[in-house]
This record gives sequence, C-alpha cells and structure tokens, in this order.
Amino acid sequence: MKTIVANWKMYVGTRESIALARGVLLALRGKKVLPHMVVCPPAVALSEVRKVVARSHVALGGQNISWLVQGAQTGEMTARMLSELGATHVLVGHSERRHQLGENDEMVQKKMAAALTAGLTPILCVGETREEREAGRAKEVVGAQLHAVFAHTQPRTRDRFFVAYEPVWAIGTGVPATPADAVEMHTFIRTHLHEMGKGLRDEQFSILYGGSVDGKNAYTFLRESAVDGVLVGSASVKLAQFSEILGAAMDVLEAQAVTK
Ligand code: PGA
Repeated sequence: MKTIVANWKMYVGTRESIALARGVLLALRGKKVLPHMVVCPPAVALSEVRKVVARSHVALGGQNISWLVQGAQTGEMTARMLSELGATHVLVGHSERRHQLGENDEMVQKKMAAALTAGLTPILCVGETREEREAGRAKEVVGAQLHAVFAHTQPRTRDRFFVAYEPVWAIGTGVPATPADAVEMHTFIRTHLHEMGKGLRDEQFSILYGGSVDGKNAYTFLRESAVDGVLVGSASVKLAQFSEILGAAMDVLEAQAVTK
C-alpha cells in the first residue's frame, strides 16, 4: 500500500479547505486501486472537512496536538479534542514547529505518547538541516530524533504510526532529496526502529518521504519499495498538482497489482 498525506499547513481557510476536500474526492472517484489518503487541514477547518470526507476512504488528520491531557495551555488542543473532531491521524514534530516554534525533542516525545494514548495514529516528522547533511551527520541527527521519542515511548502491539522523513532543506524549497537519498534514509529508519522498539512489527509503521514532492517527481519516490508514501505540503493545496500525485500513486499500485 502507498499512503499520501496532504499537509495544508496555514495555506487555506475553511472555505478553501472544503473546496479542496471535494476536489480530492472527485479526483479519486471511480478509481479501482486507491492509495491510503489523509488530509490535514488547519484546525479551524477540521469539522467542515470532516463532513465532506465522511463515508469516503479519506482520513482526517490534525497538524499538531498538545502533550497535555487537559489543562492550562492557551491556544492548544489535546489529542482527545482532535479525535472528537473526527481526526484519526496527527502530525507530530513537523520541522516548522521544531524550527519556528521551538518544539524540542522532549515535547515531540510527549506528543507522540499523547497521540498514541488517545488512539490517534501519529505521523512523526524527522529530518536534518542542510548544514547537518553537508557535515555528513544526517543519519546521526535522524537517529537521535528517533531515539528521543522511542527511548521513552514503547508502542503497544495495537498501535500504528508513521515516520515522515522530511529533510529541513527540502521543505518548501522546490529542491527535493533524490529518491536514492530517501531510500537510504528510509532503510536506516526502518532498521533503527526495529533495533529500538523491541517486538515492533513491520506492519505497525510506515515510512513516508516529504519535502518538495510535486506532480512531476512523486512517481520517482512512490515507485521505491522502501518509500511507503509521501507527505505533501504546498503541492497538496494545488488541486491539479495534487491530482497528478494521486495519479502517480495509483500507477504504482496498479503496476504492483500486475506483478503480484
Ligand atoms: P512541501 O512541505 O511539500 O511544501 O515541501 C512538506 C511538508 O512540510 O510536510
């Protein structure tokens, strides 16, 4: 299976989110093999988008949660509140939150734990900066981000989660990683997770690539067996681009069905 996660960030308000969600459903209509789909609208649009995607196979995700179960944290939303709005997934530790809003490894770890406890499927974002890659430290940095979470959070057998490898330098820049670099890092992440999470089964997690994925390059990532899907930001709010990405996923899934 391949998963496409659309992160609409703060690009669209409620009205545009409704239109986008409708457009996504139209792009999927009548197709036989569908990728697993998650759309993450801004929090204000969640309840309206929920109505549009209800009874479709498109899942709803949040872009962030608090690590608290309840209490004084002005402006934040708990995992349970998100779940009450109909979300089943949530982004955790997105690089924009880590780098613009000071979210550190400890907060990310607590958010992962809060999401799993509330029964949400977290999408944990990890990735190195340009300087770290140039210094040859990409795996060390990603390994440390994973360690910070999984040294303290042991997923239960019923838990499912995603890891999104999103190199910071590739996000919103139009310069994606090469598919070969993504495959190398995904293989590292998979091995690392098995080493840390004793008893973790392969079916419990999927690894996505994110960072400047668009209609032109999506296929080159999705056709790799080490890449379970893509996390798409700016191209996910342009319906024509996003339809091409969905088309690429369907091509890959159809080709896989033929070779099976
Ligand atoms: P981008 O963003 O596709 O605009 O690079 C990806 C992300 O931030 O998840």
